[in-house]
Amino acid sequence: MYIGVDYYPEQWPRERWDTDLKLMKELGINVVRIAEFGWSVMEPEEGAYDFSLIDDAIAAIESYGFDVVLGTPTATPPAWLIEKYPDVLPADDHGNVIGFGARRHYTVNSEVYQQLTKQIVEEMAKRYGSHPAVIGWQVDNEYGHEKSDRSYSETDRKAFQSWLQEKYESLDELNERWGTVFWSQTYTNWSQIPVPKKVYQEHNPSLLLDFDRFCAEAYNRYNRLQVETLRKYIADRQFITHNFVYSGLSQDQKEMAKDLDFISFDNYPVWGGLADPISPAAIARQHDLCRGTKNGKGYWVMEELSGAQGWSQIGYLPRPGHLKLWTYQAISRGAEAIVYFRWRAARYGTEQFCHGILDHDGKPRRKYNEVKDVITSLEGFADQWIESEIPADVGFYHDPENDWAWQIQPQSDQFNYIGEFLRFYEPAHSLNAQGNIIRDDEDLSRYKVVVVPVYFLTKKTFNDRLKDYVANGGTVIFSYRTGVKDEDNIVTDQTLPGDLAGLAGIQVHEYESLRGGKSGRVKGVAGAVEGLSSSASVWCDYIEPETAEVLATYEDSWFQDRAAVTKNKYGEGTVYYVGAGIESPMLQKLYASIFEETNLTYTETAENVELVRRESEEASYLSVLNHDVEEGHEVALPEGEWTDAASGEKHTGVLEIPRLGSLVLEKRKQH
Ligand code: GAL
Repeated sequence: MYIGVDYYPEQWPRERWDTDLKLMKELGINVVRIAEFGWSVMEPEEGAYDFSLIDDAIAAIESYGFDVVLGTPTATPPAWLIEKYPDVLPADDHGNVIGFGARRHYTVNSEVYQQLTKQIVEEMAKRYGSHPAVIGWQVDNEYGHEKSDRSYSETDRKAFQSWLQEKYESLDELNERWGTVFWSQTYTNWSQIPVPKKVYQEHNPSLLLDFDRFCAEAYNRYNRLQVETLRKYIADRQFITHNFVYSGLSQDQKEMAKDLDFISFDNYPVWGGLADPISPAAIARQHDLCRGTKNGKGYWVMEELSGAQGWSQIGYLPRPGHLKLWTYQAISRGAEAIVYFRWRAARYGTEQFCHGILDHDGKPRRKYNEVKDVITSLEGFADQWIESEIPADVGFYHDPENDWAWQIQPQSDQFNYIGEFLRFYEPAHSLNAQGNIIRDDEDLSRYKVVVVPVYFLTKKTFNDRLKDYVANGGTVIFSYRTGVKDEDNIVTDQTLPGDLAGLAGIQVHEYESLRGGKSGRVKGVAGAVEGLSSSASVWCDYIEPETAEVLATYEDSWFQDRAAVTKNKYGEGTVYYVGAGIESPMLQKLYASIFEETNLTYTETAENVELVRRESEEASYLSVLNHDVEEGHEVALPEGEWTDAASGEKHTGVLEIPRLGSLVLEKRKQH
């Protein structure tokens, strides 16, 4: 297994390199990522290449027996480049040019920038494409991050217009599908179509959605340019990857991943300014997304947090135990390599307060020792562990296009796609039921339950797959705002939930968007939720059951006879519809009953204790991860004797897991 560090040799005196590398050796790493922001070092002037620093750094790293991952430096176009080619700069939605001074200051639609990218990538590929120490490449760094996913310059406008022309072929088609008759927006020339810069009210939602699609495709093309350039020169054994961000950007990671050997991810469970880490389920969601991006293929964590992070604001200091816990959680869920960010905190530049394994004074202390313990603990078993399968019984539908449609029309100040996705993911996570995050193109029949949260922007082909899946015995959980829009971001003319009304056996005639501070109440009247009560925030669909059974109703003086949660039999299968933003305890009860009915493996644990199962021909693995910062917990182990894969200690029955404890248990299979 690869374990390493992100290192910036250009930021430290050469005399220090050897000390760093010695310390890395003692730490037990085997790979180092470098160079992803090193453009001005490698090309100090246009066309004048100087690879001496990178050559020397690679030689030094290699002399310690480490492998190297090289970044292409295109996230930071240098000052000379911007001075000479200012048109590569992107613009924000006010049309203001984003200036030089930080990073990601380019638009992927600039042909000049594409050409400049090709040149630097080509030079690097020629130089290091067969270097024995270089095992692979990370192209660019976090595409689209820091609001660089959408750019609104003149260059972008022209590219958007050509993209639309290719997509719709005729203006009549575009006008019809966008409904431009509304507010006199009928276009008579392609050149009239704007990029969605600031307007008095809001842009046409169909235009906005297409703009997001266009931005995502433009990045995919830009990534492909880098990949194809590299492939021309590099050895087959060298891989190409990119470190993704999954925070609702106008990016389609799954499409982009088709051009990469595997994907990478930067794992920051807590970042600058955050008072506490994000929830265990929120971290798990990101890992599941990574695993799903290339259909189950293992991925690298190219940046695994190793210290408190921040630019001008510093966030939460990860507690002793966190680094191991988050590393184990990542590997449990599909990461097959971990690279810690960063080796040492920088003394200058924007990221002075992004702490690393070492801090500014460069002395190894608590965090260094902790990473060392993690690496030592993994030595005996990690290779077999990362090869094992991650069983998955639940499919969670998660589509960036749906996310974009929600960003365009959140409908409530309470709505946030990731938050609402988590509302319907978290109960399964809490019950330690395992699942995959899926898109509309996957085979549903392998899942016992498919959860389709806030399915607002629908896709006809996916609707049909869901209908087939349920007809053949599958179980689907839908939520409020299902079936509202078609792929053009146009509201359906059918009674809600539109095309899926028959499947859910309900109609929704009225609904209410709940703003901050407002909530309703829902009470369970049948099934597993009977007698339970929950607040309902964000949204209430007032449901009229047709063929569905009512499981919960509203406690609202106006709408108290309306259903809030229903269950419908359809063909051989079952469809649940949760009409309101109810809270986790009620959802957990509902999920547990659905898991019972579908014979799905789940285990109840104390809050914040996460279990992850993996299976190989030889062994079963069970990760026990206690995210609780305050308290230890007891975990009832599945039958049999389990061995702590790191220490060899045996466990049966009940395991005591200390606060922030993490371990992997193993049970060999008898053949
Ligand atoms: C990541 C980024 C790194 C560094 C880090 C700071 O998003 O890829 O270059 O900025 O955050 O925590």
